[in-house]
Formats: sequence, structure tokens, C-alpha cells
Amino acid sequence: MGNDIDSILNKAVKYHNLDEKEILCILEEKKESKRLFSVADEIRKKYLGDGIHLRAIIEFSNYCKQNCLYCGLRKGNKYLTRYRIEPQEIIESARKAKNYGYKTVVLQSGEDSYYSVDKMTKIISTIKDLDIAVTLSIGEKTFEEYKAYRDAGTDRYLLKIETTNEILYNKLDPKMSLTNRMQCLENIKKLGYETGSGIIVGLPGQTLKSIAKDIMYLKSIPIDMAGIGPFIYNPSTPIESTKENFFELSLKVMAIIRLLMPDINIAATTAMETVNSRGRLIALQSGANVVMPNTTEVIYRKHYKIYPGKICINDSPSHCRSCIENKIKSINRYISMGKGSHIKQKRGIK
Ligand code: 5AD
Ligand code: SF4
Ligand code: FES
Repeated sequence: MGNDIDSILNKAVKYHNLDEKEILCILEEKKESKRLFSVADEIRKKYLGDGIHLRAIIEFSNYCKQNCLYCGLRKGNKYLTRYRIEPQEIIESARKAKNYGYKTVVLQSGEDSYYSVDKMTKIISTIKDLDIAVTLSIGEKTFEEYKAYRDAGTDRYLLKIETTNEILYNKLDPKMSLTNRMQCLENIKKLGYETGSGIIVGLPGQTLKSIAKDIMYLKSIPIDMAGIGPFIYNPSTPIESTKENFFELSLKVMAIIRLLMPDINIAATTAMETVNSRGRLIALQSGANVVMPNTTEVIYRKHYKIYPGKICINDSPSHCRSCIENKIKSINRYISMGKGSHIKQKRGIK
């Protein structure tokens, strides 16, 4: 990397602050990003230590009323076998997750109105009785719905912004609006949830400049959790085909987020491992401190097909639990014992 990249990285390490131009400069750098990844790793270690938080993810329904062009769960995808897991079975899965030692469950689905507020709040409060943290990742809701889930005990909410470029957003997410999605994130934050968001890196038509703006936006919220994933082309969707691998670029975006938000929780995502067989471990050594192993029962897994090649499709919840533990040990890190909330650390600003 050239001198200006070095000085930008030095500034980021010292102040955890960069402007859009400086972020763009890092993103545009074509040479290897070794130093970026190693400083992000150092910052992670300094602020959060070597513990890794595990979140058990339960994909409880693949129905979705939305039609995002890039996503396999889109309503218009006729090639997908749809399933819904009944509330009692979701609770059973959460109980299992607790027995595997998980301290957080993430309930994730497409936007599925089958799960009424009443159904969801019952699921949430029953799981909360197990004394584990609950994260929801079920899409755009009204303020009242978000409030009901928060009142029922939900600790965290994940809602990816996907892209902050309005033109791209309108093209890729028909009938949805960027303004509404940003309002949702504002509401989530206002209700006291730990707020998670992120983007897809490599969307057709996305520019590095728009990614730099996305990063600025995530910092402005500011988010408590980040999930960054590469775009993976799904042939069951109408989007234009690409074979490009966005692993390196998504890793760079993730590492920059670590520099700018040194104490937040950042996931080594499933999508990263889908495009690189060591993707999660590399991410954990480039700024990430969270992994979200799949805890969905095997019969459902293959149908939660957001994109092809998704990892763990034929593996059981217990297999993934021990697999990830071994992987984490292999890089001399350990699994945290706590619930892994976002603990705001004192920034090292002099
Ligand atoms: N490639 C990568 N990530 C995708 N998502 C949806 N489609 C794709 C794709 N083709 C991600 C989005 C969304 C979540 C359900 O999955 O970020 O929030
Ligand atoms: Fe539904 Fe989310 Fe997929 Fe869009 S990205 S189709 S809202 S599951
Ligand atoms: Fe599922 Fe490794 S985490 S098989």
C-alpha cells in the first residue's frame, strides 16, 4: 500500500474517524490490503479481546412478501419450497440452542405476516424465560410492532440497509423505500434495541463511492452490530449474472467498519464463508468478533436458500456447534461465556 493509505490507516487507528474520501481511497486501493486487515485485527483485540460471541441462528420461515431482485426468498421465486416452523418448534430449537451453550438466539425469517404480533411476542417471552438474549431479524415493521417485540424482551434487532444508494435501492428492492428502511432503523435504535445493520457488497450497479457512503451511514446511526456479506448471484432470481467473487472487497468493508467503530460486534458472515472456504476465520482475523452458526433443523436448511452454495446445508445444529468451536480454537481464540452485548468501550482518543 502506498504512503497515503498508510497515513489514512494511521489516522483511523488513532481517531476512529475517516471521511468519505479517505474511505474511498482505501476501497480503491488495488494492492493487497494486508495492513488494513492486520490493523483491524489489532483494534478488535485492543477493544474486545480474543473472545468470540456465538449467536445461534434459527431460520424459522422462508416465506417473504418482498421481491428483492437479488434474493432467493423473494416472493416471485417459484423454484423455492416454502416452509414455516410453528411457534412451539421454534421455542424447542431455542431450548436446544441453550443446551448447546449458546447465549443468544437469532430468530430470522423473510417478511412473513403469518407470525402475528401475538404469536411473535409469545415466542419471544417464552425464549426470554430461558435467560438467553434474543435477536430478531424479520424485516420491516411498524413502530408499534417493534415496540411490542421490544416490550416482550427482545434485546437486539438486525436490519440490513443493503445499500444507501437510492437509485440502486429502488431498482433492486421494488415497492420498498430507502426512506422507510432508514426510518425503521431509527425506530429500532430509539426503542433501545442493540441495532445491527450492514450491506451487500458487490450488488450489480453498486460503486465503491456508494459503499463509502454506506459505511458513513452505518457510523452515523451508530450501529451496535455489523454484518457485511458479499453478493452471491442466485440463478433463481431475475438479477444479472456475475461470477465475480466479492470476498476481498467485503472483507475490506468489514475491516474499515472495525477501524471506525472499534468496540461494536462484527460478524464473520455465512456469505463470506460461502465464497471462501476459510472466509469466517479470515474475517475473525481481520476485525470480526462474532459468528452465527446455523441452528435450524436439517430438514428445513436447504430451503432457506438466499443464494446457492450456502454452507452447512446438510449439517445438524450440534455438528455446526462443534465445528465452529474447533475452528475458533484453531486460530487461538476462545468462545465468550457472556451474552455478548455491545459494551461501549472508552475510545482511545487523546
Ligand atoms: N447475496 C448475498 N446476500 C444476499 N442477501 C439476500 N440476497 C443475497 C445475495 N444474492 C442477504 C441480504 C438480506 C439477507 C436476507 O440476505 O443482506 O438482508
Ligand atoms: Fe425478503 Fe429480505 Fe430476501 Fe428481500 S432480502 S426478498 S425482504 S428475505
Ligand atoms: Fe456448520 Fe461448520 S459451522 S458445518
